[in-house]
Amino acid sequence: MAKSKISVRKSGRGRSRKASARLPAARDAIALLKADHHQVREWFEQFQTARSSARKQVLAGQICEALKVHTQIEEELFYPAFLAATGEVAIHHEAEVEHNGAKRLIDEIGPSGVQDDYFDAKVTVLAEMIRHHVNEEEKRDGMFAKARQSDMDLAGLGQRLASRKAELTGMKEAGEEEPASRSAVSLSANRRSSVVARLAKRD
Ligand SMILES: [Fe+2]
Ligand SMILES: [Fe+2]
Repeated sequence: MAKSKISVRKSGRGRSRKASARLPAARDAIALLKADHHQVREWFEQFQTARSSARKQVLAGQICEALKVHTQIEEELFYPAFLAATGEVAIHHEAEVEHNGAKRLIDEIGPSGVQDDYFDAKVTVLAEMIRHHVNEEEKRDGMFAKARQSDMDLAGLGQRLASRKAELTGMKEAGEEEPASRSAVSLSANRRSSVVARLAKRD
C-alpha cells in the first residue's frame, strides 16, 4: 500500500519536471525586473572582492551591458505603462533622471579599462547609484509596489519585456547597434510625452 503511494508521487514529480522543461515559467514584469536587479547586485559584489584586473574588467563589462538592456526595456515598456496606469509623474520622472545619471557613468566606464586610475571609483559609484535606484523601485510604496496595486497587465508586460530583452541581448552579442530612430531615449521621450498629455487632459 505504502509502496503504491510512493510510486504515484514519483511519477507526478517526473511529469511536472518534463512539463517545466518544455515550458519555462513565464515571469511577470516585476519578477523579471527584480531578477535583473539581483543579478547585477551579485556582479557588483563580485567586483568588490575580485583580485585580478582581468576579472574586474569582465565583471564591469557584464554589469554595463546588463544595465543598458535593463534600463532600455524599463524605459520603452515598463515606465510608460506604469505612468499611464498610476499617473505617478514624480516617481516616473525621478526614475528616468536616475537612469540618465547611471547611463552617463556607464558610457564613461565602457571605453575605459582597469588601466584607468578612476576605473574602480567609477564602478563603485555606479554600484551606489544603482543600489539607490533599485531601492526606489523595490521599496514599500515605491514604483513596483504601486504598479502591483494598479491595474497594469503585469503578466502580459512580463512577456513583452522578456522578448525585448532577448532581442536586445542578441543584438549586443552580435555586435549590432540599434538605429538612432529606435533608441530608448527617443522611444521613451515620445511615449512619455503622449502619456503626460493624456494625464493632463484627465485633470
Ligand atoms: Fe530596475
Ligand atoms: Fe530603473
